[in-house]
Amino acid sequence: MGDGVLITIEGIDGCGKSTQAALLCEALVARGLPVGPAGAPGTVLREPGGTPAGEAVRDILLHGPDSLAPWTETMLYAAARAELVARVLRPGLAAGRVLVLDRYIDSSLAYQGYARGLGIDAVLAVNAPAVGDAMPALTVVLAVAPATGLGRATGVRDRIEREGIALQRRVADGFAELARRFPQRIRLVDGERPVAAVAADVTALVAPLVEGRGV
Ligand SMILES: Nc1ncnc2c1ncn2[C@@H]1O[C@H](COP(=O)(O)OP(=O)(O)OP(=O)(O)O)[C@@H](O)[C@H]1O
Ligand SMILES: [Mg+2]
Repeated sequence: MGDGVLITIEGIDGCGKSTQAALLCEALVARGLPVGPAGAPGTVLREPGGTPAGEAVRDILLHGPDSLAPWTETMLYAAARAELVARVLRPGLAAGRVLVLDRYIDSSLAYQGYARGLGIDAVLAVNAPAVGDAMPALTVVLAVAPATGLGRATGVRDRIEREGIALQRRVADGFAELARRFPQRIRLVDGERPVAAVAADVTALVAPLVEGRGV
């Protein structure tokens, strides 16, 4: 996969993923690292999306019909991901870039696999052919209470957020289960603290992965 590095930021809705992903990118750019895809340097990649087809799928998932069957939802996420892996992640990693993703495969495992009850292994099996070896070197899960996440959400709620706190509780349990299952890759960070304190922990976790690179 070249000598690029893939880092993912995960957690329930409103836990602070987009905030921390942006701050992490900034910190890595400040170190002189080649962050983000070559075509959009310095930027965070978001899932679902990040490609034209992926953004179209995102629209169905977040703003489409209220009742998508769980496997429809799972396969749409996997389809958007397959496109992102093929068009953006693989080329980026091959070119030695440091890619920060706001959600990735673990969101599918936590939401559809665990919270919706399809099974972590079953959802992993659908995603594995799309993702292949484009797995994150590090996944940071921002741990917050479901009420904190929902409380932080601003603006119009998307389809998943509208389902409310019961789903978010199961998703939080799902991420905790994933952290137990993949302890080498997934690290939990307490996201209840102020933004700067969380960012300091995230940067410290990422530092060993980019040791000796940049300027
Ligand atoms: N540590 C924090 N303490 C207090 N507020 C925060 C913290 N982190 C983020 N916020 C605020 O909470 C809101 C949600 O944060 P953010 O958009 O980063 O979360 P998210 O996980 O990306 O949400 P979503 O799942 O909806 O994409 C924003 O208004 C943000 O400014
Ligand atoms: Mg976000």
